[in-house]
Amino acid sequence: MRSVDARPFCYSARVQSLTRQLRRPAVGGVAALLVALVCARAVDGLSAATDIATEFKYGAFGTEETVGVPYWLWRVLPEVFADKLPNRPGNAYARLGFTYETPTSDVPIGTSKSTDWIPRVGLNCATCHAADYREAPGATPKIVLGMPAHQMDLQGYARFLSACAHDPRFNANTLVAAMRKHPEFGFFDGLVYRWLVISRTKDGILERDSRLAWFDKRPPQGPGRVDTFNPYKAMFAKETHFDTDDTVGTADLPSLWNQRMRQGLWLHWDGNNNSMEERNKSAAIGAGATPDSLDLDALDRIAQWILDLKPPAFPPERLDKALADAGTPIYQQHCASCHDIGQPRVGQVTEIAEIGTDPERLRSFTPELVTQMNTIGTGKPWRFSHFRKTNGYAGMPLDGIWLRAPYLHNGSVPTLRALLFLDERPSRFYRAYDVYDWRGVGFVSSGPDAEKQGVAFDTSQRGNGNGGHTYGRDLSVKERESLIEYLKTL
Ligand code: HEC
Ligand code: HEC
Repeated sequence: MRSVDARPFCYSARVQSLTRQLRRPAVGGVAALLVALVCARAVDGLSAATDIATEFKYGAFGTEETVGVPYWLWRVLPEVFADKLPNRPGNAYARLGFTYETPTSDVPIGTSKSTDWIPRVGLNCATCHAADYREAPGATPKIVLGMPAHQMDLQGYARFLSACAHDPRFNANTLVAAMRKHPEFGFFDGLVYRWLVISRTKDGILERDSRLAWFDKRPPQGPGRVDTFNPYKAMFAKETHFDTDDTVGTADLPSLWNQRMRQGLWLHWDGNNNSMEERNKSAAIGAGATPDSLDLDALDRIAQWILDLKPPAFPPERLDKALADAGTPIYQQHCASCHDIGQPRVGQVTEIAEIGTDPERLRSFTPELVTQMNTIGTGKPWRFSHFRKTNGYAGMPLDGIWLRAPYLHNGSVPTLRALLFLDERPSRFYRAYDVYDWRGVGFVSSGPDAEKQGVAFDTSQRGNGNGGHTYGRDLSVKERESLIEYLKTL
């Protein structure tokens, strides 16, 4: 794979080269001394005995060298540049949709802290595949691993880092002064950050920013969604004619539960790959790892764990059992053929002409990109070979569907009710508010609280269309209501 790369988070080539230089003692007495001293300190990170759920939340699998931000810098950016964070609730990175387990957590779920001599904060699977919901506005958030990170604004994170690096306050005096307010920030940290880390990181971020022009040709991704395959096209810009390509590849984040039953299915939203191993590895590479930095053992532990990771059951006290039972045969007749394991069309593609949902994500995955995707990992035993071009979207298992809102590949339909009652699909609604909508089945997507705490979603923007998937439209109101009740039990 190329070393030049336009993935949103790959910018710290310079920080890498800095690390390499400093690992060589020949670089100079002072630097070598600093390395020795800093290395002698206790390092953060996860111990060998870490349980797998903790590893999923905070573990590293190889993005730290490429996309990691040196810890102290990462820590003070939201303090120094609070004005550049979106006006959403919470502190620090919560305003970009990261979930902190407790108000005093050092880093949020979905970030890893490397054990390098300058610890760096990278991303992991939980950045996009873990989230919380609340039963009511005053309730305590419930964190669910494997759930789509419906609040996470990854593009916002990339843009925040760029905005900081472009600001004159991004200088050693201002930033080291902010770091010194933290008692754990040490004397040697001060030297290393002042003389090396801050300027190198700034250059790295600006260099990356100059390669993200493709962001501006497309509508904002917003929370809970990322453009999955255009970053790969940016990597293979010549072969995929990326300069003239304006397709929108923005996709809603899926769940990671029950991967065992998904083995062999054609998945990703457009059904472009039937190898679970490749889906896992391409996810890691998409998140910033490179074929060489990828920690295969760590990824394998996560891959094993998500084989049987289960979604939480819908709260039984809120379920109308009799109504759900009435919905069972309706589901069997109208839905199961494309969504249930063992049925002919699950993990198979329904042609775009039939499904009728927004075509942009499908279009964005081009035949030229297929050729390039199948070169990733050349020289490695796991080299990709299963990517293909399709002409539609895949029917997938609906396990835990009650927590997978908003629905469809672009997240354009806020609730199951809106999916099944076509005239209730809103053209504009709010995403990323985490209070549950028990009637609609999804998250509360309108009203003053959702407006204040969420982010507007406009279905008229390119890639955001909410049409199609009209199955069940001929059912009576009562039948559709029982079907929704049944869907809660999946
Ligand atoms: C930057 C956000 C992000 C990160 C980080 C991320 N994923 Fe994903 N993942 C996605 C998106 C978006 C999709 C849907 C892609 C598509 O089809 O367009 C996806 C899809 C998947 C799928 C296929 C799901 C399906 O049913 O189609 C698997 C498996 C997966 N990811 C595993 C992982 C693993 C394992 C990790 C950590 C190594 C990871 N992901 C990290 C965003 C992410
Ligand atoms: C002919 C195959 C087919 C049938 C029949 C079908 N679906 Fe689907 N379903 C799909 C496909 C394909 C998608 C993905 C479409 C997209 O995202 O653009 C989908 C997506 C969904 C989603 C969104 C999943 C998510 O994670 O966002 C839900 C919910 C769903 N279907 C429920 C149903 C229900 C309920 C029925 C029966 C009334 C049904 N489907 C019938 C093929 C089908």
